[in-house]
Amino acid sequence: MFGGDLAQLGTKEELDHGAEIMSALNYKVHYVLGEHDYYLDLGEYWEKLFGPQYYSFDHKGVHFVVLNSILTYDEWTYERWPSAQQRMLEMAGLDNPNGSPFMVGEKQRQWLKQDLEKVDKKTPLVVMSHSPLQKIYKGWNFWTEDAQEVQDMLKPFKKATVLYGHVHQIQYNQIDNISFTSAMATAWPWPYPQSYAQAESQLPKLTVPMNRADPFFERDATGWQLINLASGKADVHYTLYDNKERSVRFDRKSGQPEDTAFQGKDQRVAPQTHY
Ligand SMILES: [Fe+2]
Repeated sequence: MFGGDLAQLGTKEELDHGAEIMSALNYKVHYVLGEHDYYLDLGEYWEKLFGPQYYSFDHKGVHFVVLNSILTYDEWTYERWPSAQQRMLEMAGLDNPNGSPFMVGEKQRQWLKQDLEKVDKKTPLVVMSHSPLQKIYKGWNFWTEDAQEVQDMLKPFKKATVLYGHVHQIQYNQIDNISFTSAMATAWPWPYPQSYAQAESQLPKLTVPMNRADPFFERDATGWQLINLASGKADVHYTLYDNKERSVRFDRKSGQPEDTAFQGKDQRVAPQTHY
């Protein structure tokens, strides 16, 4: 699974370069579309390389759904900008008042509803998206505007998991019976809304906040992860560059994902208090 943002500004050259790097993997890769892949040509070239923007499939008894969660209002996408390049640049900016919130959108939610109607509610369900399908912090689109509507469709499933990219940090959360786990980035760490912007956010309680004094010290932000779905819920093993590995595993007793090393109060790493 690749969680999206293979490119930075959506160009063919960037996407080709990314696809070339990914071609070293000699197994089937399922791609999720990120905003940096999308807002130049609205996913046209990405589709040529990787296929449809949203889809579902079954694998070893698990139903997988891949969503394009980085859509936004039609007016913003189609009418506001004099060029596709400017549209891309506006969406790529952080804390940009010209940006717009991400959403799955009504058309895709209709498709999702129909897709899920065919699936037994006891079948483990894994939904992959680029943005979190929960509302964490709007300024950086750690946010999906219609997250609630999507969550309502996942709630009837006994085992529902959402895996997402975009945030470049380890996050995990439980909302009703839906478990949420993020993927890290291979490129660069991203600060937390509280420590960087000192902004209010709904970020789930973190056990190991990243050190913001030096954003290039990758304390928990960059690397990749192995996800074991044998139980029908996600056990995520994060492999971090130059750092201790971490595991976040769905705990049956507490009914939520837990950090296997840092969950307990005494094991937590205190957040940074200077900026
Ligand atoms: Fe992103």
